[in-house]
Amino acid sequence: MSPPPYVAPVVQSTAVFKDDIFKGKVLFCTGGGSGICRGMTEAVMRHGADAVIVGRKLDRLTQSARELSEKTGQTCIPAQADVRKPEQLQEAVAKTIEKFGKIDFVICGAAGNFMAPVSGLSENAFRTVIEIDTIGTYNTIKATLAYLRKTKGAYIHVSATLHYRGTQYQAHVSAAKAAVDALSVVIAVEEGPHGVRSNVIAPGAIADTEGASRLGNQIDTRGFSSALGRIGQIPDVASATVFLFSDVASFISGQVLVVDGAGENVRTSQLPYPQAVLDPASVSSMVKGKL
Ligand code: COA
Repeated sequence: MSPPPYVAPVVQSTAVFKDDIFKGKVLFCTGGGSGICRGMTEAVMRHGADAVIVGRKLDRLTQSARELSEKTGQTCIPAQADVRKPEQLQEAVAKTIEKFGKIDFVICGAAGNFMAPVSGLSENAFRTVIEIDTIGTYNTIKATLAYLRKTKGAYIHVSATLHYRGTQYQAHVSAAKAAVDALSVVIAVEEGPHGVRSNVIAPGAIADTEGASRLGNQIDTRGFSSALGRIGQIPDVASATVFLFSDVASFISGQVLVVDGAGENVRTSQLPYPQAVLDPASVSSMVKGKL
């Protein structure tokens, strides 16, 4: 197969946004110990914020916090909590307030995933993912909302695109992420008058993440599953995060920002892609009228 006709550049947010736009701000990020959420945290810190990363594995969190602090020159601390346990989240929030005195931004990113058909999914397996993704997001909102009202802060919830259609072996995650999307809109409407914004970032397949490795060979790493010639990278999602938390997004709330190189739209294509675009004559037998 020939290479993609165009490959979008991967652009770090620091190449576009000033490095002090989040000076004095504090980020609270669940799932921030690794993968996409760690990348989102790093990007926000590179623009001047301090951060608390929350997760279940203290070793990983501690190491990530140290590395994030070293890389960005800001302060990142770990807070161990399972998002399924409200009291643990409240402790993580208390630790944040004790250290930094406030919270400006929250990323609800902790998630669970594995591939399983409904026929092989136990009630406990389904519930486990709903509890981590959906109820974990609810618990995180409940634990942080009062602080975000004080700072007129913002939420970003990390969702997905797989529930926009029936994605096989992803019933549990599809149901969980659809609920997260719905929750975000209600928060946007209810909390807007308090100055709090709420948006969703929906990454497509992102390389070098636990999610990608769990979805295994379903992911086309050659780039043909997006319109922009490559699979998503963590900086794509991180830069979207910086934009949505920044003041230029102050009138954007209740939205879903899909970061997938139009991959979701390509998935709907009835015609071979991108061959049909590059050479319309190749599909003349399938298209009525003159090309
Ligand atoms: N297929 C079917 N069922 C599975 C499964 C699989 N691949 N993996 C786990 N389950 C089931 C378990 O069998 C169990 O159900 P059972 O009690 O009926 O047997 C249920 O899911 C809970 O599993 P358990 O391992 O006890 O839960 P946990 O809380 O320790 O782990 C998970 C949660 C399962 C979501 C685990 O994958 C995880 O910790 N993920 C976090 C990281 C992650 O997924 N990141 C990617 C985000 S996109």
